[in-house]
Amino acid sequence: MGSCVAPVSLLARNRPICAFRLPRSALYLCVMDRLIITGGRKLNGTIAVSGAKNSALKLMAASLLTNEPLTLSNMPNLADTRFLSQLLGVLGVEVFWPKGDSECRLNAAELTSTIAPYEQVRKMRASFNVLGPMLARYGHATVSLPGGCAIGARPVDLHLKALEALGADLKVEEGYVKAAAIHGLKGAQIVFPFVSVGATEHAMLAATLAKGETVLENAAREPEIADLADCLNKMGAKVSGAGTATVRIEGVERLNGTQHAVMADRIETGTYAMAAAAAGGDVVLEGAPVAALGAMIAAMKEAGVKVDSDEAAATIRIRRNGLALNAVNINTQPYPGFPTDLQAQFMALMSLADGTSIIRETIFENRFMHAPELSRLGADIQVRGQEAVVQGVAGLKGAPVMATDLRASVSLVIAGLAAEGETEISRIYHLDRGFERLEEKLTGCGADIKRLSDTEE
Ligand code: UD1
Repeated sequence: MGSCVAPVSLLARNRPICAFRLPRSALYLCVMDRLIITGGRKLNGTIAVSGAKNSALKLMAASLLTNEPLTLSNMPNLADTRFLSQLLGVLGVEVFWPKGDSECRLNAAELTSTIAPYEQVRKMRASFNVLGPMLARYGHATVSLPGGCAIGARPVDLHLKALEALGADLKVEEGYVKAAAIHGLKGAQIVFPFVSVGATEHAMLAATLAKGETVLENAAREPEIADLADCLNKMGAKVSGAGTATVRIEGVERLNGTQHAVMADRIETGTYAMAAAAAGGDVVLEGAPVAALGAMIAAMKEAGVKVDSDEAAATIRIRRNGLALNAVNINTQPYPGFPTDLQAQFMALMSLADGTSIIRETIFENRFMHAPELSRLGADIQVRGQEAVVQGVAGLKGAPVMATDLRASVSLVIAGLAAEGETEISRIYHLDRGFERLEEKLTGCGADIKRLSDTEE
């Protein structure tokens, strides 16, 4: 992200100033809201889990594959999903998604452009996934290279190699990928050298309309991939094996519209589970994707948190009342391993454990930016390359901190809830990318958390 980040010199007296003038449509990026958390309160109550951001974004891209409407329910209202709906609008997709509504209707009957501009794509990496569907349906597409969270280089080489294997001619010029497949895409065997969620999804989307069979080997197995495959199959695609390391896609001539409910957000679920564990209390997460959270549940239990999950009822109950937390070591891994998107939150929890925990990040190269911010609250964390050594402390103390990326920012919320006194988190536009009604959900469980807005135009 960082598209509207005020230089430090402009952050006078804790009052962030928007340094750039942007069109009105982009204004909400410039709302430099802050969260004020008064910590030390236990959380008690229920939290309803929202639809998964990471699933919703790929499902929205799937709308480009058909000239019939795709209706998505359980849509999370987030900055990221709204960004993508703006980009789809720029391409000529009719988007009917009233503010705050959880149902979104996308009709790509006729695109007016197959060019996804820098201005839209740079704000969010997942926008890059519009390339494959447009290429598959129209035989050409031009998409800006993406931006996204500042968590390492995050190239798109695997996406491009997959599209090339499907027969696309690609040129990268002036920051844009120009893709053509005049005679359509052709099925291929694609062996990914390492696991990539985005590249697996991108290849899957494009291959649905390719001629013949595509086999993806060493595919990512994340639950969001199975959710995308479910929706594509309802649209008339022939995808099998999604959720395993080998995905087969038999190309079809055309796809139809359908209705699909976005799966529940496993990262949001895990985040609130850790918030309840860190602050203490008794919280039930409703509509939780229990089966998708095995690694997180195991780590929480090892830490001594009481976790009762019920897959049939889709609930996870988290209890911690006064008991010490055990230190647990984790390595982030592709699914079904411990998710990188819960690493920062787990670090916040481990900063309160009894002992030393080693947290290894194996997916992204620069994903410990939350460590120095957690240290401002009194956490004892040493980062050594891809490893963070977290020496648990007896308690945290509130302090002003700054959000640096989406998941990092919510780790600061967790720490703030557990800390004594007031924590002020700035740059929370990162948080708004991925957490729907966060203050409302936490306040409903007794948290003291307020949003302050400083809007500058
Ligand atoms: C997705 C998720 C993100 C999550 C990540 C890993 C969405 C919108 N985002 O991101 O929240 O943290 O999966 O679970 O679904 N890589 C390359 N070349 C490529 C593609 C990826 O080198 O072409 C590298 C990345 O830099 C990273 C690793 O592969 O180091 C895994 O990335 P990937 O699984 O592709 O993550 P995303 O799809 O971007």
